Amino acid sequence: LHDRLLADTADADTLDKLEAVRVGALGKQGSITALLKTLGGMTPEQRQSEGPRIHGLREAITAAITGRKARLEQDALDARLASEKLDLTLPVDLPAPGTVHPVSQVMDELAEIFADLGFAVATGPEIEDDWHNFSALNIPDTHPARAMQDTFYLAGEHEPPMVLRTHTSPVQIRTMLAQKPPIRVIAPGRVYRSDWDATHTPMFHQVEGLVIDKGITLGHLKWTLETFLRAFFERDDIVLRLRPSYFPFTEPSAEVDVGYTMRNGRRVLGGSEGWMELLGSGMVHPRVIEACGLDPNEWQGFAFGVGVDRLAMLKYGMDDLRPFFESDVRWLKHYGFSA
Ligand code: PHE
Repeated sequence: LHDRLLADTADADTLDKLEAVRVGALGKQGSITALLKTLGGMTPEQRQSEGPRIHGLREAITAAITGRKARLEQDALDARLASEKLDLTLPVDLPAPGTVHPVSQVMDELAEIFADLGFAVATGPEIEDDWHNFSALNIPDTHPARAMQDTFYLAGEHEPPMVLRTHTSPVQIRTMLAQKPPIRVIAPGRVYRSDWDATHTPMFHQVEGLVIDKGITLGHLKWTLETFLRAFFERDDIVLRLRPSYFPFTEPSAEVDVGYTMRNGRRVLGGSEGWMELLGSGMVHPRVIEACGLDPNEWQGFAFGVGVDRLAMLKYGMDDLRPFFESDVRWLKHYGFSA
């Protein structure tokens, strides 16, 4: 038995086969186990001579199996190490790293510039109710901005009616309702209008600015916009022109134009040879301040809203808005910013 078990152990060339040998010898029904059981029925004399022999056999086979097992495990490890050998001299084929989308890049830049001016970032929902998007902003029921062709209404019956926000101005309302003045926030985010051509997409990005404090004037508005745009376009010669305009939620309202100079037949920002319309702004309408539960005799402020995509186009010289949202990897690689 001893020799046969040793031979079986040596022949076992896998861990499974070796385990079968072990069970066959030392398991519950194993041959050595069976021998051990016979000790119980022996006379003391027999047991004295047979006991050491059987125990010796068990130890010898146990040791042989343990040794064989270590050998097989080592062989398996060696085989794995050999097959998984890495060639560290091979050139590495890394997946192309992503880039930061120009819109995200510009939003980050805006947040940084305005943080330096003491503005916090505020947010609001993109699915907005009619009150925050329109009514609280003094946009009457009959205003054309509410017409079906501009505004995406949510299907189904909603009370109040729900829309995809058409501008970031409802964040003005949410901020004034949630915070006590003085308030200085910008609110960057997505907005939606049903429009589609080279410079209009149904989803685009705006950043809203809102300041509510005591004794705020148009002068503060102009200084803030000038400081922001000079920092954003990295030009000290940026000139702004405030043109009287109309928004229901500001009074007075001003359309802000930025001056440009012609160079080699191209418009370059800076100077005042010509003017380009850039953003809408004004002094927050007393009715809006009132709608948010504040006393317009105590608190005044200014607000502005500007297209983030438009800012990106101007800064990085793009002439079509649509590729911003087409996810063409070639465009993203060309205009994206390395992370
Ligand atoms: N909400 C306006 C728009 O989308 C822009 C604006 C914001 C105008 C704040 C004045 C004040 O056109």
